[in-house]
Amino acid sequence: MATMLNGAAIMDGALLLIAANESCPQPQTSEHLAAVEIMRLKHIIILQNKVDLVQENVAINQHEAIQNFIQVHSGTVAEGAPVVPISAQLKYNIDVVCEYIVKKIPVPKRDFTLPPNMIVIRSFDVNKPGFEVDDIKGGVAGGSILTGVLKVNQYIEVRPGIVLKDENGNMKCTPIYTRIVSLFAEQNELQFAVPGGLIGVGTTMDPTLTRADRLVGQVLGDIGSLPDVFVELEVERLIGVRTKGSEKQGKVSKLVKGEILMLNIGSMSTGARVLAVKNDLAKLQLTSPVCTSKGEKIALSRRVEKHWRLIGWGMIQAGATLEVPPSPLL
Ligand SMILES: *[C@@H]1O[C@H](CO)[C@@H](O)[C@H](O)[C@H]1NC(C)=O
Repeated sequence: MATMLNGAAIMDGALLLIAANESCPQPQTSEHLAAVEIMRLKHIIILQNKVDLVQENVAINQHEAIQNFIQVHSGTVAEGAPVVPISAQLKYNIDVVCEYIVKKIPVPKRDFTLPPNMIVIRSFDVNKPGFEVDDIKGGVAGGSILTGVLKVNQYIEVRPGIVLKDENGNMKCTPIYTRIVSLFAEQNELQFAVPGGLIGVGTTMDPTLTRADRLVGQVLGDIGSLPDVFVELEVERLIGVRTKGSEKQGKVSKLVKGEILMLNIGSMSTGARVLAVKNDLAKLQLTSPVCTSKGEKIALSRRVEKHWRLIGWGMIQAGATLEVPPSPLL
């Protein structure tokens, strides 16, 4: 679920995959749909996969079960979604899926004029053991640009950056300031990168900062223009997700003061302790700081029998921020 929620932060649409040889809905089907809703994805295509494994009448019956599932979830993105029977392994109907992606998932308006804001979903150290000093490359961050344009040679900031705790256990963060040395989309080297798709950003950062996905969940953009870094959040309009057997979205099943939740905010997953709860408001203390803004949606998950289960979502209303030291480059 965490992987799905993090990835959904940069998606324009989603494919809801249902296995034709299993009954529908599976418990995670509703949960995945709820996640799609939370992440504000407006367009989904439902794929009935593995039709090669079942008899025709089984596939037809399941198609009806899927339609029922859609009916139960009317008012969500599932309403009106196409249901395409496919076999991924035999590549049946993949051309139809492509056609639906092109025709049913509109390209959202991309604003090139706002300051650049990229969500990091992967990061790497591309150097191999034994590289000569002169051949060492800086850290690489991969993600999707939400707004604005990034350019080669541009100076950028990555927030929250390096997070440390002082002797009193208080979190401190130092944004990373660096320069873009290369931009990639698939195999293509770019001079400019714009919103949409996945972009690899080569920088002059110390590669130890980017190795093994260390920058996942951070935000990259113009120096001094990124949102605040929060360590505590007040979340309002807590709304529970539909779970098996319940027909409606309701209140988040009671949060307990002191309990630990997992939050997903953009592509950042972090633990959080519930400090206070009142009606549909909760105050949460974050395990790691998050660069985000008021009004952003957050997903809440709770550990149930060794699994993180999505229990609801809410909106950031306020919070406590970390003081970010001014850039030495400004
Ligand atoms: C459905 O097919 C998969 C193989 O793709 C198999 O692993 C799984 O056990 C099957 N499920 C059922 C209920 O037969």
